Amino acid sequence: MNITLKINAIEHTIDTNPSITLLAALRGLGFYGIKFGDEHGLSGADTVLLDGQPVNAGSQLAAQAEGHNIVTIEGLGEHPEMGWRKTEGLHPLQQAFVESGAIQCGYCTPAQILAAKALLDKTPNPSEEQVRNAIAGVLCRCTGYLKPVQAVLKAAAVLRGDTEVGDQLSASGDPFAFPAAPETDISPSSPAFVSTGVMPKVVVTPQTETYQTVGKPEKKVDAIKLVQGKPAFTADIDMRNMLYARVLRSPYAQARIKNIDASKARELKGVAAVLTWQDIPRVVYSTAGQSDPIPGPLDTFSLDNKVRFVGDRVAMVAAETPEIAEKALHLIEVEYEVLPAILDSRQAMDENAPRIHDEPEFVNFADSNPAKNLAAHIRIDIGDVEKGFAEADEIFEGEYEVPKVQQAHIEPHVCVTYWDEDDRLVIRTSTQVPFHVRRMLAPVLNLPVKRIRVVKPRIGGGFGGKQEVLMEDVPAHLTIATKRPVIYEYTREEEFIGARSRHPMKVRMKTGVKRDGTITANSMYALSDTGAYGCHALTVTGNTGHKAMALYVGDGEYRKSPNIRFYADVVYTNTPPAGAFRGYGVPQGYWPLDRHMEKIARALNLDPIDFRLKNAIHPGEYHPFSTAWNEGREPRPEIIHTVGLEQCVAQGRAAIGWDDKFGNEEWHTKVSGVRGQGSSDNLTPDTPAPLAGSHLKRGIGVAMVMQGTAIPYLDMGGASIKMNDDGSFNLLVGATDLGTGSDTVLAQMAAEVLGVPIEDMITYSSDTDFTPFDKGAYASSTTYISGTAAVKAAEKCAERIRARAAMILELPDSEASNIRLSDRQAIASDGRSVPFTEIALDSLHRNNQEQIMGVASYVSPVSPPPFAAQFAEVTVDTETGAVTVDRLVMAVDSGVIVNPLTASGQIEGGMTQALGYAVCEEMRYDDKGNAIERNLDRYHIFRADEMPGLETIFVETFEPSHPFGVKAVAEIPMDGVAPAVGNAILDALGVNVDDIPVTPEKVWRAMKAG
Ligand code: FES
Repeated sequence: MNITLKINAIEHTIDTNPSITLLAALRGLGFYGIKFGDEHGLSGADTVLLDGQPVNAGSQLAAQAEGHNIVTIEGLGEHPEMGWRKTEGLHPLQQAFVESGAIQCGYCTPAQILAAKALLDKTPNPSEEQVRNAIAGVLCRCTGYLKPVQAVLKAAAVLRGDTEVGDQLSASGDPFAFPAAPETDISPSSPAFVSTGVMPKVVVTPQTETYQTVGKPEKKVDAIKLVQGKPAFTADIDMRNMLYARVLRSPYAQARIKNIDASKARELKGVAAVLTWQDIPRVVYSTAGQSDPIPGPLDTFSLDNKVRFVGDRVAMVAAETPEIAEKALHLIEVEYEVLPAILDSRQAMDENAPRIHDEPEFVNFADSNPAKNLAAHIRIDIGDVEKGFAEADEIFEGEYEVPKVQQAHIEPHVCVTYWDEDDRLVIRTSTQVPFHVRRMLAPVLNLPVKRIRVVKPRIGGGFGGKQEVLMEDVPAHLTIATKRPVIYEYTREEEFIGARSRHPMKVRMKTGVKRDGTITANSMYALSDTGAYGCHALTVTGNTGHKAMALYVGDGEYRKSPNIRFYADVVYTNTPPAGAFRGYGVPQGYWPLDRHMEKIARALNLDPIDFRLKNAIHPGEYHPFSTAWNEGREPRPEIIHTVGLEQCVAQGRAAIGWDDKFGNEEWHTKVSGVRGQGSSDNLTPDTPAPLAGSHLKRGIGVAMVMQGTAIPYLDMGGASIKMNDDGSFNLLVGATDLGTGSDTVLAQMAAEVLGVPIEDMITYSSDTDFTPFDKGAYASSTTYISGTAAVKAAEKCAERIRARAAMILELPDSEASNIRLSDRQAIASDGRSVPFTEIALDSLHRNNQEQIMGVASYVSPVSPPPFAAQFAEVTVDTETGAVTVDRLVMAVDSGVIVNPLTASGQIEGGMTQALGYAVCEEMRYDDKGNAIERNLDRYHIFRADEMPGLETIFVETFEPSHPFGVKAVAEIPMDGVAPAVGNAILDALGVNVDDIPVTPEKVWRAMKAG
């Protein structure tokens, strides 16, 4: 049938089937700004405007939109200069999103902007609450909503003609210019802060005073394309003869496939291929996207004759349409021999427990033992823990539990594969680890590495979920089978039943303490559940101890020789596999560790902040675990040089008003209203009301945390830079910006070395054919490792630029090193200068021609930890147990902050994910192993209208192992929110909840138990 759609005021007629959704029709017409996030419109990524109203295009038939006006992001605005054609430029909403740092991965951005446009068209002067309500239907997993909300308010002001804001947006005349950087250069000795709504507070270290670009809130290098909804993501490609893949998944938690008959499916018209375990090579591998050799067991096949969890793969199909592929799945006949399953990690090591991995191809790593359902076994002893316990005045023991949770990136896993004209297999995939994808899939596909090219477009969020070679093999096998391009995009249900998650753990703590608060020994045992496969089993769980248990070394003589034990068993169960998730095991460690510290402080009547700081690690001390453990490799002792923890505590406690609130009974029994949950009483933070006898109580909590920055002697990043005819530069990196802003901060660092503005750096990441190797985006490593590589490559370019400038100025060679690069010029010490344009033309076209370029790589011998103090304020309903988190303040020592906008975006988004971990996110299974949470309704992630107040403070230190003094920022916000919230609940009620998420039921039960 013919359907005519009026899109952005232009009519398009398509000949299609009547059941096509508006989402499919629009994307089929090339409107890629509209995104798939889920099948039910719950993510809101598929938002378009229909007669000015936001609607979910995935939930509407295209035919229903006939006769209506459809507006997509492509209808709003565009780049102001398109060659000789001048345009009206970006819409103020787009402009404000760019300038406010409101875009991280950008996958939700077009939908957020359209939802905001619908609001502003009717309500030109909205309140913040109205903005939050307007975009509440568009989930964002990256930003924490603070900057998008501010961007909408700013755009509203511009649209109203508020000259002050309007001038601010375009003060420099640069159509994409960011407003002048606020005064953030504050000496640590006399702190004073500036906040502009989207900018964090920064206590700047003096070493950065002369920096031109590093430390400035530059706009993201990919922001302009993302704000226009350009086809930047993996699925935003249309290929002739493309097939659609679907996977048949197991209905049983454990079963042997006795027979499988795909003949009926193969006969279905439109089916191009059906593959079962009998059709492809049986190659054992690990899906964990890690460096060679993989530090974990090899226990996975593309398809196997045994299934090990509900959702495990049984067969794969490629067909002309997704609907035909789906239909074909139902025609595959499978005879299962259902086997007993393990659904509780406590049963996995029982003598009579069923064995999950009995395949002969299984390859052990370290102490993995499939006969005992053990994927990894960790025993780390530092000092003499038993002696430390014997010397303690008090021993404190406790048990804690942390849940399985989902990364829930809004862009699902998606991959397109095709043969190119040289018979090389191209894998275009949304991955954090393109080079690992190439290396690891080569044996699985029976192709040499050199015949595989992996292209990584923009990524719509990853959070560790895409540090997995999870599903690229499916379209690759099908492309090999059919010779045709294949796209495979996970459904949202597949994300819950067939992707990865955070390892759930049961943790026991035992701590010896002197009466003065000195920790004499600290011990943690973790029973970690890796699910059906052991991807990341050893390394995630090892980090639980390595990065959490390292923080408290004790005081006095114990500080010199701490007594720390971390033991763990990582067991297989018949549940969907766990894997990498932002924080990588460390959030699992800080819930038990910090909750335990709080209990000890209160039991000994010690100030909880003083007790923690008394025992926390100091600069100049060894990282205790560096002497004992290194992710299954040889340990190398490492001294920690920068620890800004005390300064973080000082700034955080001032910001949240700790000294006025902690221990102040009156404050606990007065309550203020908050957005979202519990807001019905219409109170505001400015109008506290006494609630003597009320059912509401307030509490305040703190947690202290440390993370790591990359894996020493292992993580390697490369960069190459070349100079162009106009003095601009191409920066090519294998590092993968998954929305974090890493392309931007790498460009900032290179630009700083080369003395050019960031817009002169054309950054590209990543393509295994063209960009240098990089281990990928994980372990909080990109700014530190790949950034150092970019700096070194820039230094090589700079050296040649100075040499060429000396030549042009007829200076002796010895003078070259005195030439300064600044403002796109090489400036000699005698004051004469040569513009880069002149140097570029001279070197490429005129004299002694050469390509000015630099290639460099970097591996670090150390992993300097960032530190943070996390504060939380809560209100608890004592009748229902409902907890409302009112405010989160995080003060972070991440070394020098390269870009305060992108870095604070990381903290805000990370705290929001961590808040879900604390209070509402959990993946559960019934007694047959069926997932209970299968969509974004049952699995709740925070919406814009449910957020607490967020505040980020950076306390800079200058990390000496990095050229610009940086440490990591990406993962540390995941660590402290849950314990700070748990401690705040204890502060409010005097009761402990030891398992997260802290649901109303758990709080209510704890209160009843007294
Ligand atoms: S920026 Fe919103 S989902 Fe990534």
